[in-house]
Amino acid sequence: MRNVILDCDPGHDDAISIIIGASKRSGLNILGITTVAGNVEVEKNTRNALQVCELIGLDVPVVEGAVRPLVRESEIAPEIHGETGLDGPVLEAPRKEKSSGHAVDFIIEQVKKSEGKVTLVPTGPLTNIALALIKEPSIKDNIDEIVLMGGGTFGNWTPAAEFNIYVDAEAAKVVYESGVPVTMFGLDVTHQVIADEAIINRVAEIDNITAGFVKELLIFFAETYRNHFGFSGGPIHDACTTMYLIDPDMFNFEDVNVTIETKGEATYGMTVVDLLKTTGKTENVKFATGVDEETFWNVFLDILDSYGET
Ligand code: BDR
Ligand code: CA
Repeated sequence: MRNVILDCDPGHDDAISIIIGASKRSGLNILGITTVAGNVEVEKNTRNALQVCELIGLDVPVVEGAVRPLVRESEIAPEIHGETGLDGPVLEAPRKEKSSGHAVDFIIEQVKKSEGKVTLVPTGPLTNIALALIKEPSIKDNIDEIVLMGGGTFGNWTPAAEFNIYVDAEAAKVVYESGVPVTMFGLDVTHQVIADEAIINRVAEIDNITAGFVKELLIFFAETYRNHFGFSGGPIHDACTTMYLIDPDMFNFEDVNVTIETKGEATYGMTVVDLLKTTGKTENVKFATGVDEETFWNVFLDILDSYGET
């Protein structure tokens, strides 16, 4: 079983990513969930993670992390995820409590003590991951891959920058330059998995509590993406990470060099993806370029269906 830590800011698509990763089919050993300031304040992201865990019966530590980015002030995205960060479904306050300690120390401890290597799966700003790599660089030897959602060859927060990278580009720079293999799901691929009305209708046909919850998430997410970007539905960006861990073959990749822009006036937070190898710089990223959409949605729906099995 592959050991993973899900580092996230739930977030509709983060929540869906957790649900996929926690399914029986995933074959993943989730060591814990760590939260970071991103879509909304970290306290809200933590509460949302606890609610998701409770709903699906996932009994793993949920550990709160960085309250703000390394250098800049926080930026949040309530216009996409609502005031709670997980608007849409009506959920009761979680009974499950967060674990004590800080996410950065949790990541370090878990990676150090794990017998097998650990895969880090960040789906929010990269603050916690960067801090862990800075605080204890030796953990690099026991991380096999960082599978992240972020960046792309275009932006959604600015014309050049995607939200997760923009919020903490300094942290992203640390992670991308760490030498740990990075597998990157940017907007180029995540915009290929848009949960439009047809997908939501297929989810609605699945009769279990988890699928019902996902349906409510997707309805809200589709609405904000329609209003904000004119899309036909919400791209379930973060879910690409756990879907990849289940079935990597449905995605296409290019090995490339990616540099993080931290200085540009109009390009802060850009992931400069050298697809045509113009720089001659070492390839540091496995960059997702495409996905077999039919397979993606079939696997996704099968996973939701599996939550009805006893
Ligand atoms: C990313 O930003 C967040 O709003 C989503 O959860 C996703 O991680 C997409 O740009
Ligand atoms: Ca996210």
